[in-house]
Amino acid sequence: MIRLDERLSVIASFVRKDARICDVGTDHALLPCYLCENGAREVIASDVNENPLKAARANVEKYGFADRIRLIRSDGLSDIPPCDDVIIAGMGGELIAQILDGCKFISHGVRFILQPMTKAELLRRHLYSRGFEIAEEKGAAVSGKAYTVMLVLYTGEKREITDEFAYFGKNTDERYITKVNGQLEKLGKGDPALLRLIRKEQP
Ligand SMILES: C[S@@+](CC[C@H](N)C(=O)[O-])C[C@H]1O[C@@H](n2cnc3c(N)ncnc32)[C@H](O)[C@@H]1O
Repeated sequence: MIRLDERLSVIASFVRKDARICDVGTDHALLPCYLCENGAREVIASDVNENPLKAARANVEKYGFADRIRLIRSDGLSDIPPCDDVIIAGMGGELIAQILDGCKFISHGVRFILQPMTKAELLRRHLYSRGFEIAEEKGAAVSGKAYTVMLVLYTGEKREITDEFAYFGKNTDERYITKVNGQLEKLGKGDPALLRLIRKEQP
């Protein structure tokens, strides 16, 4: 049985098992293998680099999912056929935004599961300025580090968001709020307006 850490488990919880799934920047392909073990029928595991794809291939064979997981070398979504659930996780917010911009199959039915390691505030602003919205956001922590995982849909309606929403999004996880508060404290030394965004208590 494949065991995932909390970050990958939360990502997996947003994925629909009957969907055409793509994991962009799959690295070891542990997530696609887990999804197959739990009923997914069709998963693309893609990466821009050859070494991660080698590690992915080894895991796909080890767990016996070569018939359900297709490995594709691709820079972002450039060589990926249309999918229903797209996972882009474990990368910086800027890179995730850039990969989304290159998606050729954005439509109302496609769900994006995004997990930025950095610059989540930049990613949230980018999403709303491009007609996406965050349907749901959940927190996760691994080795004392807090992360956010976003379920993102396309609406076509471009919107500006507040600074507060850019920093916290829809995440109400205490561990994530503590992390963002810490970031705002640091940034607030150069920009006092950011200090006012710090959350004193759970909303
Ligand atoms: C830190 S790993 C994250 C692995 C996994 N997604 C996770 O969340 O645990 C980042 C992976 O993204 C891949 N990557 C970086 N830039 C990429 C791009 N433009 N397109 C596809 N994969 C990319 C790297 O090769 C690496 O395997």
